Amino acid sequence: MTDLSKFAGIPSPCYVMYEEALEANLQLLRLVEEESGVSIICALKGFAFWHSFPLIRNYLSGATASSLNEARLIAEEMQCEAHTYAPVYLEEEFESLLFYSSHLTFNSLSQWYKYKEKALSVNKKISFGLRVNPEYSEVTTDLYNPALPGSRLGILVENMPPHLPEHIEGLHFHVLCENDSYALENALKAFEERFAHLIKECKWVNLGGGHHITREDYDIAHLIEILKQFKARYPNLEEVILEPGEAVGWQTGVLISTVEDVIENRGTKIAMLNISFSCHLPDCLEMPYKPAVLGATEPDENSKNVYRLGGSSCLAGDYIGMGDFAFNEPLEPGDLIVFDDMIHYTMVKTTYFNGVKHPAIGVVKADGEFILLSEPGQYEDYKKKLS
Ligand SMILES: Cc1ncc(COP(=O)(O)O)c(C=O)c1O
Repeated sequence: MTDLSKFAGIPSPCYVMYEEALEANLQLLRLVEEESGVSIICALKGFAFWHSFPLIRNYLSGATASSLNEARLIAEEMQCEAHTYAPVYLEEEFESLLFYSSHLTFNSLSQWYKYKEKALSVNKKISFGLRVNPEYSEVTTDLYNPALPGSRLGILVENMPPHLPEHIEGLHFHVLCENDSYALENALKAFEERFAHLIKECKWVNLGGGHHITREDYDIAHLIEILKQFKARYPNLEEVILEPGEAVGWQTGVLISTVEDVIENRGTKIAMLNISFSCHLPDCLEMPYKPAVLGATEPDENSKNVYRLGGSSCLAGDYIGMGDFAFNEPLEPGDLIVFDDMIHYTMVKTTYFNGVKHPAIGVVKADGEFILLSEPGQYEDYKKKLS
């Protein structure tokens, strides 16, 4: 039986990150950097736990931003310049983005030509790139597949000029999501089939995110090998960049929640929690997937205490629809329900739908000390989002 007593004294609801687990991920990512000679940067869209940015900076080569807010957070808390890419840039933000960026990638040639003059007029060195679409992906969930027909992400090969436009120094693609090194190998094949003539003119290429490098069964040796081979095919490349988010935050912490009520609907027992799947762990509904709950198992015909886990918003679908959970004991109000692996793509995607309260955020340092970093969301936070 899983002992949840270690969570006593931590408020509920609360995202809790274990810095030791983060450091183990960072050590592995650093090893890949050292062995393959690529740069690995942290994608804030997936992992923006900025309390630990100084730790990340010790291991990785920086971070990637997809907005001005992310770029500024990188400058303030990681103290480096961002590799920036967004599907569209906003006029009113562009100069600030240049200020915070070392690399800046455009999603289309029209965006490049729109901003080129401004981009070239800044008084510092920024390396500019274009996102291309290799039209290959092994991602099976359409919501996360940037290579579907009609995709708005990246330039198709037939829309690229025969040579890189003047002042463009890099190419970027992103077509993976929770994929292994063999999917990357196939994506690289598609990328090179279409764009090899342009890769030969680049200073850098960025292979995007979606590399599940820190997952237990990931073939690290194979990844290092294919990256080395790729670099050997293009000796002109000064830098090859990978920008994972999920792999940085993978298995680094939990979301603690509490049962507030237990109700029954014609034989289905439902534990109503003080968190919302829609607002606090939306990937459970969007992907969808069934999260791991500490101490809970898959129900079978012998299971006695089987519960559906329900969220606190009034969205009809705010519950784990991918299956119910079996517990050793009947659930009662006040019991803790602890969701595992809830640090990536959770805090960065929260919403104030229904005005629900945001969980607190805390960290367990390497010496075991728990530090509460932010209190649960307050009324002022909710009000400020509206007017
Ligand atoms: C352009 C780009 N880079 C990097 C990432 C990070 O991907 P992941 O967190 O799956 O590694 C994403 C995710 O959507 C992305 O769109």
